[in-house]
Amino acid sequence: MKNIAFIGLGVMGYPMAGHLQKAGYQVTVYNRTTVKAQQWSEEFSGAFALTPKAAVKNCEVVFCCVGNDDDVRSVILGEQGVLAGLSSNAILVDHTTASAELARELGQLMESQGFGFVDAPVSGGQAGAENGVLTVMCGGEESIFSTVSPIMDAYARFSQLMGPTGSGQLAKMVNQICFVNTVQGLAEGLNFAQKAGLDTDKLIETIAKGAAGSWQMDNRGKTMCDRSFDFGFAVDWVRKDLAMAFSEAEKIGADLTVTKQLDGYYQEVQTLGGNRWDTSSLIARLK
Ligand SMILES: NC(=O)c1ccc[n+]([C@@H]2O[C@H](COP(=O)([O-])OP(=O)(O)OC[C@H]3O[C@@H](n4cnc5c(N)ncnc54)[C@H](OP(=O)(O)O)[C@@H]3O)[C@@H](O)[C@H]2O)c1
Repeated sequence: MKNIAFIGLGVMGYPMAGHLQKAGYQVTVYNRTTVKAQQWSEEFSGAFALTPKAAVKNCEVVFCCVGNDDDVRSVILGEQGVLAGLSSNAILVDHTTASAELARELGQLMESQGFGFVDAPVSGGQAGAENGVLTVMCGGEESIFSTVSPIMDAYARFSQLMGPTGSGQLAKMVNQICFVNTVQGLAEGLNFAQKAGLDTDKLIETIAKGAAGSWQMDNRGKTMCDRSFDFGFAVDWVRKDLAMAFSEAEKIGADLTVTKQLDGYYQEVQTLGGNRWDTSSLIARLK
């Protein structure tokens, strides 16, 4: 039985930590807003702590899932942060979608102090977290990955070690580049279909079986036709992720011309009031 800490009980972290506790691990959670940690502790019969430092005491593995680079720095490196309380040989797994640069920095720092580190952003959204079927893209050392991978099985249906530290975050950037391009194609197609007076239910049922089919079409096609955007991953978050991909693309010389255009479209969605709309809301700006 492993002692585990989970830092960050947001849309993703709350159910992920719950799966760990249900799988039989002794989980201690920390959340900045304590009432959420209390609620989690009552729901799953696990423990909660008032600081990251206190939560990680005697833990072999620490999972973290907060918002962005600054949030990770604050919960890991702060005075009351994870690093201040880690037991020797502990492993930190960061599920936050953050920069590859931060992952490399944390990886080096942790290694120099005798700790393990894996950058491990996830894909699958709120439903994936709640149903325990996330995909995890990891960067780090093989031996450390193989220690934590069976634990992540509590909430993941697939985990892959992509390469050295930072590779998980790079893989997540590719995921984001690919899916926003798919969403825009779907938005234009469905908007066209509505203007053309087609029955979109019949249309989706039909073309989803052919070469145009996608996860987005299966899961968001109908809700996009209804202009209903309350299905998880928010526009604000995807713009954060794309900004990191653009910065990485500049370093490696990768062309993201169309993806940059789509980022501009998401900015337009924000001006329509869509900061917290889900990412299928690209259709909202189409005439
Ligand atoms: N939602 C999705 O569909 C999805 C899918 C894949 C990946 N992700 C990624 O997963 C990460 C978490 O997403 P989420 O949807 O769970 O976000 P969320 O619901 O907004 O939750 C963010 C969590 O981080 C905590 N937090 C934020 N800033 C903090 C700080 N400075 N110090 C301490 N705690 C802080 C929040 O605490 P409070 O409760 O106190 O605010 C909350 O527990 C993000 O990197 C996101 O890009 C999300």
